[in-house]
Amino acid sequence: MDYALDNIIENLTFTKKFKTETISLGSKSLNRMLNGGVKTGFVTDFFGASNTGKTQICFQLCVTVQLLDEEGGAVFVDSLGTFRPERIREIAQHMKLKEDIFERIMVVKARSVREQIDVPKRLKVAPFNVRLLIIDTLTDNFIFEYQGEERAIVRQSNLAKHLHDLCSLALRDGVAVVVTNTVRSRIKDDRYHEVETGGNVASQGVHIRVHLSKEPRGMSARLVQPPIDRATAYFKINSVGIVDNGWYR
Ligand SMILES: Nc1ncnc2c1ncn2[C@@H]1O[C@H](COP(=O)(O)OP(=O)(O)OP(=O)(O)O)[C@@H](O)[C@H]1O
Ligand SMILES: [Mg+2]
Repeated sequence: MDYALDNIIENLTFTKKFKTETISLGSKSLNRMLNGGVKTGFVTDFFGASNTGKTQICFQLCVTVQLLDEEGGAVFVDSLGTFRPERIREIAQHMKLKEDIFERIMVVKARSVREQIDVPKRLKVAPFNVRLLIIDTLTDNFIFEYQGEERAIVRQSNLAKHLHDLCSLALRDGVAVVVTNTVRSRIKDDRYHEVETGGNVASQGVHIRVHLSKEPRGMSARLVQPPIDRATAYFKINSVGIVDNGWYR
């Protein structure tokens, strides 16, 4: 298999009336892998173990979405209390944005499944043009509220409905939806594999999936869906945000 992500995106978007826009991720390597960055009209899932850069990528996108035409802004759904305005300001200072970036970032604290699933239904209340909806993280509220095997079916069906709402929103309103997700370790063929929390419901309910890992000298990102050969990017995180890693191509 060796086909470009832009061909796939072209095929997926042929029926849509709005133009797909691209939100930069800061690192050239990551942008190259995703054909320029995160796309409006799609749900992109960044998943990986703790400290692999999921939340930092979201902060970076809150800033770079403001570089789009039409004064785009972001809604950040915070399920675990990870939103850090001072870190976003630090990243924005590097970009020399003229206006106050927080005029176009709205934080929604979602500490329950109900609060979280309401967000895609109520996005229109934002006082700016929402081009990016972030959910950091997708599955925590679901895992906390529906504990135990006997509640797994309800949990998975509610998660599937939520993802369906997010996909509809992305397609209908041309919003870039970015979700983060955690992983669990599984042993297969005597080796450890990282499996996304929420199983097939999570992995099949999004358009684009990127698996983040920690390397000895930075972070790596692998495009898992759609499957494209040689789809690995390398990046690091420093005071200005997400940047290329000089150790790797
Ligand atoms: N100002 C900064 N300068 C350099 N590195 C930073 C800065 N802020 C955060 N980092 C790095 O970002 C990493 C944390 O990334 P992040 O919080 O995005 O992980 P995560 O994947 O969201 O983890 P979790 O699953 O626990 O939420 C840390 O390794 C930290 O070193
Ligand atoms: Mg995080």
